[in-house]
Amino acid sequence: MPPCVASRLSLAVVAKAAVILLAFLSPCDAEIRYTEIRSDDRPIIPIDDFGFTHRGQLELNVSKIVLDPNPDPPLNNIGFFLCTRDSWFSVLKELQDGDISCVLQSNYIKHVFVFDRLGPNGDQFSTVFTQNDANQYTLVFANCLSERIRVSMDADSAMYNLDGKGGSRDYLSAGRTVLPRIYFILSLIYFSLAVFWIHMLYKKRLTVFKIHFFMLAVVILKGLNLLCEAEDKSYIKRTGNAHGWDVLFYIFSFLKGIILFTLIVLIGTGWSFLKPYLQDKEKKVLMIVIPLQVIANIAQVVIDETSPYGQEWAMWKQVFLLVDVVCCCAVLFPIVWSIKNLKEAARSDGKAAVNLMKLTLFRQYYIVVICYIYFTRVVVYALETITSYRYAWTSVVAAELVTLAFYLFTGYKFRPEVHNPYFVVDDEEEEAAAEALRLEDEFELLLEQKLHCGSKE
Ligand SMILES: *[C@@H]1O[C@H](CO)[C@@H](O)[C@H](O)[C@H]1NC(C)=O
Repeated sequence: MPPCVASRLSLAVVAKAAVILLAFLSPCDAEIRYTEIRSDDRPIIPIDDFGFTHRGQLELNVSKIVLDPNPDPPLNNIGFFLCTRDSWFSVLKELQDGDISCVLQSNYIKHVFVFDRLGPNGDQFSTVFTQNDANQYTLVFANCLSERIRVSMDADSAMYNLDGKGGSRDYLSAGRTVLPRIYFILSLIYFSLAVFWIHMLYKKRLTVFKIHFFMLAVVILKGLNLLCEAEDKSYIKRTGNAHGWDVLFYIFSFLKGIILFTLIVLIGTGWSFLKPYLQDKEKKVLMIVIPLQVIANIAQVVIDETSPYGQEWAMWKQVFLLVDVVCCCAVLFPIVWSIKNLKEAARSDGKAAVNLMKLTLFRQYYIVVICYIYFTRVVVYALETITSYRYAWTSVVAAELVTLAFYLFTGYKFRPEVHNPYFVVDDEEEEAAAEALRLEDEFELLLEQKLHCGSKE
């Protein structure tokens, strides 16, 4: 929207547009939604959104309709409609230019049910609306009667696409309907990784540390988490109901979240590689991260199970983003401390070369953790925003591939290995360390830069 148009729009319209846009940007897993509206005088109430294929259907059952005070008929300025993001801009433009006085008069929207069909004493209706134009739509309730008329009702909506052959219902939005399969394949990859890791631990059992079992736990939990997510999504796909394996999914998400962040902290502090104990300040980081993960998971449950237009949704989304950012920053500190300690040790004691090797590894790890956090939080969010609804799965795949790469990197760099730079330094490595010494200054600069932007995150 050009800025000049935006500045001419009244504040109310901009606010409305913002609410709708916010939700247009969020991924949707439309399920069957039960929306209770109580004494609401908002002129526009978005209900839910969904990506339709060319064989889409919307089922809408509304009951207990009360308009207070009861307006005079005809009620042709109040009702439900479907609208895409692009046509919403056109509608706003029409309103702005004064071509129409109510959203429901626009030709850009699709009427689902206007209340003049309600009959004199009707307080409920059921309708099935067939949607043949593939696109992402938002179901919206509009009340242009007057700001003083308050609406109460129970709206049950179900949006789904009909499958090709059997005509069975698919409650996952177009573009997300492949997600169960994707999650399932990913879970198989993690289970194979776990098997491979067990094999590795057995082969290298003389150089195995406690932390390697911890890594195994992370991989297994990640696999279980993905498996439950696959089952949960496939349950939604088949029934429109979110309560398949969702409880298991949240339990594993929770455990995985805690254990992954703990693992990053433990590796970052060099626990069981460099020293068998954690210092007080490192324990404090864990004590901050773990309760925050509890909050993050509660937020995740609310975000997943409510419509993006609900009042709690926006609040919990913010809570989630905030908590997530705090956790991400917190886990970086122990790595920074380790780097600092190693740098001092490299200067003072005789085994400078060994310490430099460790230092290089820790710096690499630090940068990889930053990239991982940055990609899974910022880039994926950007991808979600710019990709068409039809390719909504691509941002999920991108995030999961980056996560997989991060797990692989961590596993590879910190694998149980006699020749791991942590334990033994031979001549060749000594030379490499001397090389590292020469690169010291360059690294210094890079590190300072990274620290700087890391603390801003
Ligand atoms: C709407 O009502 C019909 C008939 O009672 C029922 O079969 C259908 O499941 C209902 N749909 C929703 C979304 O509640």
